[in-house]
Amino acid sequence: MSTVNLCESVAVVPPALDACPEILRWLVDADSVPADAEAQRLRQQRLAELRRDHLVRPAIYIGAGTCGLGAGAQATMDAVRAYLDSHEMHADVVKTGCIGICSLEPVVDIQLPGRTRITFQQITAQKVSQLLDEVFAGRLPEAMVLGQHRHTTLTAWDDVPYLDEHPFFAPQTRWVLANCGLIDPAEIDEYIARGGYVALWKTLKEKTPDEVCEMVEASGLRGRGGGGFPTGTKWKFARKSGHHVPMVEDQKYLICNADEGDPGAFMDRAVIESDPHRLLEGMAIAAYAIGASKAYVYIRAEYPLAIKRLKAAIAQAEAKRLIGEQILGSSFSLKVIIKMGAGAFVCGEETALINSIEGRRGMPRPRPPFPAVSGLFGKPTIINNVETLANLPTLAYRGAEWFSAVGTKTSKGTKVFALSGKVSRTGLVEVTMGTRMRSIIFDIGGGIPNGKAYKAVQIGGPSGGCIPTQHLDIDIDYESLKTVGAMMGSGGLVVMDEETCMVDVAKFFMDFIQREGCGKCIPCREGTRRMLEILQRITRGRRKERGIEALERFQSVLHLQSLAESIRDTSLCGLGQTAPNPVLSTLRWFRDEYEAHIYDRHCPAAACAELVTYSIDAEKCKGCTLCLKKCPAEAIVGTLKAPHHIIVEKCIGCGSCLDVCRMDAISKV
Ligand SMILES: Cc1cc2nc3c(=O)[nH]c(=O)nc-3n(C[C@H](O)[C@H](O)[C@H](O)COP(=O)(O)O)c2cc1C
Repeated sequence: MSTVNLCESVAVVPPALDACPEILRWLVDADSVPADAEAQRLRQQRLAELRRDHLVRPAIYIGAGTCGLGAGAQATMDAVRAYLDSHEMHADVVKTGCIGICSLEPVVDIQLPGRTRITFQQITAQKVSQLLDEVFAGRLPEAMVLGQHRHTTLTAWDDVPYLDEHPFFAPQTRWVLANCGLIDPAEIDEYIARGGYVALWKTLKEKTPDEVCEMVEASGLRGRGGGGFPTGTKWKFARKSGHHVPMVEDQKYLICNADEGDPGAFMDRAVIESDPHRLLEGMAIAAYAIGASKAYVYIRAEYPLAIKRLKAAIAQAEAKRLIGEQILGSSFSLKVIIKMGAGAFVCGEETALINSIEGRRGMPRPRPPFPAVSGLFGKPTIINNVETLANLPTLAYRGAEWFSAVGTKTSKGTKVFALSGKVSRTGLVEVTMGTRMRSIIFDIGGGIPNGKAYKAVQIGGPSGGCIPTQHLDIDIDYESLKTVGAMMGSGGLVVMDEETCMVDVAKFFMDFIQREGCGKCIPCREGTRRMLEILQRITRGRRKERGIEALERFQSVLHLQSLAESIRDTSLCGLGQTAPNPVLSTLRWFRDEYEAHIYDRHCPAAACAELVTYSIDAEKCKGCTLCLKKCPAEAIVGTLKAPHHIIVEKCIGCGSCLDVCRMDAISKV
C-alpha cells in the first residue's frame, strides 16, 4: 500500500525516499542498488565502516554508561588517549554505553583491523598500558579477557572464548539491549547502519495507524513499566478518543515514562544512555499509531547522562527528519520534548506524572477518566514505559507473529532486568519470558558470592514481593509471579543471602514508601506510617516495655495484616494499593523471622543491630582490652591479659567490638 488514509476525507502523505537520510535509503530501497560496481562497493564499504566490520585502524571502545563512569571509565579513557599520544599511534576511541556486565566495569573492547572485537574486564587506568602493550604486540592478557565477539567476516582470535558463550550472556536474548555497549550512542548513523529507523519507514509506508495498533495487540506486548497492561489494547482506547486525524483542537499526547523510581532499577537509564535512538524510533511508531503529534519523555533529573544523550539524539534525529516536522517526508509530525522530574517515586504513577508535566504537584488523580481518554491537558494521552517503547522497532520490523512466538502463553517477548544485591555478577540482563528465576540468579548472575546461601530475590520494587528458595524455579511470567505473591514490576531484581533480615527488608520498603508517597490519601499516608512504626518496634532493642507495649508487640502480625488489607483496598493510586506487598510477601514466606523478632527478641540473620548480641570466646580472647576501650556502652568487662566478657543488658549491638578484635574471638549471636 502506498497511500495511507486515516479517514476518508484526508489523504495522508506517505514517506518519500528522497526525504530519507542516505544510509537509510540504502537499507529500505532495494531498487536503489547502483548499477555502477564502484558505487556499490563504496556503499558497502561505508556501511561496513559504520558497523565497524571494516576498520583501517584499531578501535578502542570504552563502556561509558553511568556504571562504567562510576567504575573509572573516564580515567581509563584519558589513559588510553595518553598512551596513544605517547606512542604516536592512531586508533579510534569510541565511547559506548553499557554492555550489561556492570560488576566488571570499566569494560574495554579492542578491535584490530580485520580481526574480531575482544572485550576486556575491569580495565582501570592503571591497567591500560599493560593491556595496550600486549594487544598491539598481538598477545592477549588472559586474566583481562572476557571474550570475543562472534563475527563471520572477521578473523577470530584463537583460544579466546566467544562472548555469547560466556555464562553471563549465553542464556540471554537481547532484543532491547541489542546495541547496548556495542555502538556509539552519540552517532545516529551507527544506529541506522545496524537497521535503525527501517521499522519506522516500513510502518509509515505500509501500515495505517489502526493496523499498527492491531499488530501490537496481536504481538501480545504488555507494558514493561510494572502494570503489564496489553499495549495495543491501551493504544486503541486513545485512538478511539477524539478524531482519527490529529488536529490542533484534537491534540493527543504520547508520554514516555522514564521516571524509574524503584530501588534497584536501572534498566531504562541504561537503554537511554546506550541506545537512545531505539527509544526515539519506538516513540515515533507509537505516536503514529495513536495519532499523537507531541510526545514527552518524563525523566528524572538524577539521570543527567541519559538526558544529555537523549537531547543529542533528538537533535540528530530531527536534523535527519526522523522525528520532528513531516517525518521522512510524510505528513506525520512528532515533536519530542524532554521533561525533567525531581525524582519522586510517586511521579512514576501515570496520573501524578501528568500533574507534574502540567506544572502541578505530583499527586495522583482518581481514575476514571483514564489518561487514554482524558490525560495531559485534558487530552487523550498514552503513557508507556521506556522498555515498552524500545521493543517497538524490532516488533514492527519483524511482525507480530515473530514477536509472539517467544515467551509464554500470556507473556510474550523478552524482559530486561537490573540484577543487583548479593549476586556474583550484577548488571543488565535481558531474557525471554518464561526463563526460570534460578537461571537468572545462578547461571547469568553466577550465584551467591562468598559461599553464602541464597535466601530470596526481591522483584517488583516497593509494589512487589520476595521469591524464596522453594520457588526459585518459577518462570518469569506476569501471571506466575503473582501466584507467589510477587509481581513482574519494572525489572529491579535485588538478590538477598542468608545474612539479610527479611523484617529489615520490609522495614526498608515501608520507610521508602513513607518518604516517597505524596500524602494525598489517608489510607496510604497514615496506614503505611502505622505499618512502619510496627516494624520499627519489632526490630528495636530489648528495652523495658510497659505491659501494653509488650501486648502490642505480640499482636504485631495481626496489626500488620489488617492494616495491609485496609491500605490495599482503600488507597487512591497504585502506590498505596500495592504498598503493603513487601510486608505481606515477607510475612508469607518468612513468618518465622517475624516471630523470632516479636517473641524471642532475636534477629536470626543477625542483621538488626539492636537485636544482635555479641559474645566473647574465652579460649580465643587474649585480654588485649581493645574491645573494652572501643565499646561506647561500657558493656565489656575484663582485665589485661585475661578473657573479657560482654554484659548483654548493656550491649547496644553496634558491633564496634567485632570490628576491632584481632583474635577472631568475638561473634554475633
Ligand atoms: C507509584 C508508582 C510508580 C510507578 N513508576 C513507574 C516508573 O518509574 N516507570 C514506569 O514506566 N511506570 C511506572 N509506574 C507505572 C505507570 O503508572 C504506568 O502504568 C506505566 O508507565 C505504563 O506504561 P507501560 O504500559 O508501558 O508499562 C508506576 C506506578 C506506580 C503506582
